[in-house]
Amino acid sequence: MLIFKTAEGIKAYLSQKRDEGKKIGFAPTMGALHRGHLSLFEKALSENDVCVSSIFVNPAQFNDKKDLERYPRTFESDLEKLIASGCHVLFYPEVDEIYPAGLDLSMKIDFGYLLQTMEAVFRKGHFEGVAQVVKRLLDIVQPHHLYMGQKDYQQLLVVKRMIEALHLPVNLTMCTTVREADGLAMSSRNALLSKEAREAAAAIPKVLFAAKEKINGNISFSDLQSQSMEALNHHKLVNTEYFEIADAETLMPVKNSTAKNKIVICAAVKVGVVRLIDNTLIA
Ligand code: PAJ
Repeated sequence: MLIFKTAEGIKAYLSQKRDEGKKIGFAPTMGALHRGHLSLFEKALSENDVCVSSIFVNPAQFNDKKDLERYPRTFESDLEKLIASGCHVLFYPEVDEIYPAGLDLSMKIDFGYLLQTMEAVFRKGHFEGVAQVVKRLLDIVQPHHLYMGQKDYQQLLVVKRMIEALHLPVNLTMCTTVREADGLAMSSRNALLSKEAREAAAAIPKVLFAAKEKINGNISFSDLQSQSMEALNHHKLVNTEYFEIADAETLMPVKNSTAKNKIVICAAVKVGVVRLIDNTLIA
């Protein structure tokens, strides 16, 4: 696997691959790799000639300094996993390489309701930081295909909207959420959970999937929402920030199952000091 630390280096290498007619698939990450990340590389490998990943803990998307400091950094084991996955190229830049002085990263995109709900409310500025870094990474890597996880569903919608608004020549693929045996969505943050918190966190997928089962029954969505939050908060370590039943395209709240559009149920839950998110789509 080739490792590039500079934008110039990886750009030159991939531009040659593009000229040779090779298809490039890209899965950006912040490291602390787990099987969820590996599933993106697998998909990229199966659909492209060159699989590119990046590891960059992006300061611009952390609204909480402590969260940034605490974010797990496990480069040595990440490298082993990347090599074992068969990924061809890793971009591993320093902050100055992504944000060189004088670079204009301002974007005038109307994200609409996507930036007025859920993560956007609880993590002010987070998605502006995500959009910025993904735009910069796409400019550098210029992949044909971009792979992102359903796990961060709102992030995926924000990136999708950005790609459309800026007419970026890249095809976005959503990869399904990879889970632990007890259903907990894999996340780099799971490593930060205490033993007790890890056990409590298993309630998140349980409650999400229980709500999914009940959604077509007689229960009103507001009752379903409050029952689900109660079920989550039952454990003393668990504190639910939101539990939303929303339109899967716009994230606007959905009041009842008469709506024709696809629905997503999204939750953000603090388990001890660790903040976890998860979601489930209803076809
Ligand atoms: P990170 O949290 O490292 O996630 C990188 C990618 O892996 C994202 O597309 C995310 O949705 C996906 N992913 C995470 N957990 C997953 C799981 N359990 N199953 C499937 N896919 C999963 O998301 C980010 O980094 C950053 O915001 C980034 C997009 C890299 C921009 O900085």
